[in-house]
Amino acid sequence: MTVSTAAFDYVRDLVAGRSGIALESRQAYLADARLAPVARAAGLGSVDDLVARLRIAPSGGLATQVVEAMTTNETSFFRDIGPFEALAQEVLPELMRRRAQTRTLTIWSAACSSGQEPYTIAMLLHERFPALAGWRVRIVATDLSSQMVERARAGRFSQLEVNRGLPARLLVKHFTRAGTQWQISDDLRRAVEFRQLNLVGDRPPLPAADVVFLRNVLIYFATPTKRAILGKVRSVLRPDGTLFLGGAETTLNLDDGFKRVQLGHGPSYRLKGVR
Ligand SMILES: C[S@@+](CC[C@H](N)C(=O)[O-])C[C@H]1O[C@@H](n2cnc3c(N)ncnc32)[C@H](O)[C@@H]1O
Repeated sequence: MTVSTAAFDYVRDLVAGRSGIALESRQAYLADARLAPVARAAGLGSVDDLVARLRIAPSGGLATQVVEAMTTNETSFFRDIGPFEALAQEVLPELMRRRAQTRTLTIWSAACSSGQEPYTIAMLLHERFPALAGWRVRIVATDLSSQMVERARAGRFSQLEVNRGLPARLLVKHFTRAGTQWQISDDLRRAVEFRQLNLVGDRPPLPAADVVFLRNVLIYFATPTKRAILGKVRSVLRPDGTLFLGGAETTLNLDDGFKRVQLGHGPSYRLKGVR
């Protein structure tokens, strides 16, 4: 199956308009590989036929399926360990001192994919901060893809997924076998609130966050979209909050409101003019 240039251009505009994801011409192969199953499931013979259908009904469920299929959902437990170590060793101990009166803490995992990132945070809090049991802790996890949010909420992972980054001790402690998969405990499932949320669009209707994980998603956007999203994150982040980005991402030359702070072995970002 090979997508025509006109069909790929249509997909590229649709995806950019609905998600901000900027596909490049050399990624036509990606549209082919990811949209062929969508076309087949809709009873259509090719990606070009799928696009012809979309041209007739551009705002239906099929368009949403196409956009979701074009997202990259690569993730793993304890991915690039640095931010989780910084969270445990520096950010949380300090936040627990600062929030000792209110005993509330909110962590937002933006673009959480299938849930490994927020569940890693939940495990880390459970393992290393038993004192937080008496606090009101919210871990809010969001993603554009409703399919990913559904998967994440279910908390079921394949053998391959639990083999990636999850220490055996935590697998045994927090997961049970469910056929060929692994089911995360109800306690950890209840610890995370999953919601579908598009980072492109209105200011997110979220509680003010003490920590934001916005990792490995800015890389998919063009510069104006990155700027707009960082502006929204600023409006959600508490004045003394901390932002973690992916290893290939930065706020530098994008948003003057943030400063880079070395925490542990890696960078994190804080709002300028506070602390
Ligand atoms: C590569 S995953 C990153 C997952 C996790 N943060 C990590 O670092 O392992 C990127 C995620 O961004 C989501 N995404 C892409 N565009 C988005 C948007 N406009 N709003 C919210 N999420 C988006 C995708 O659905 C995908 O699950």
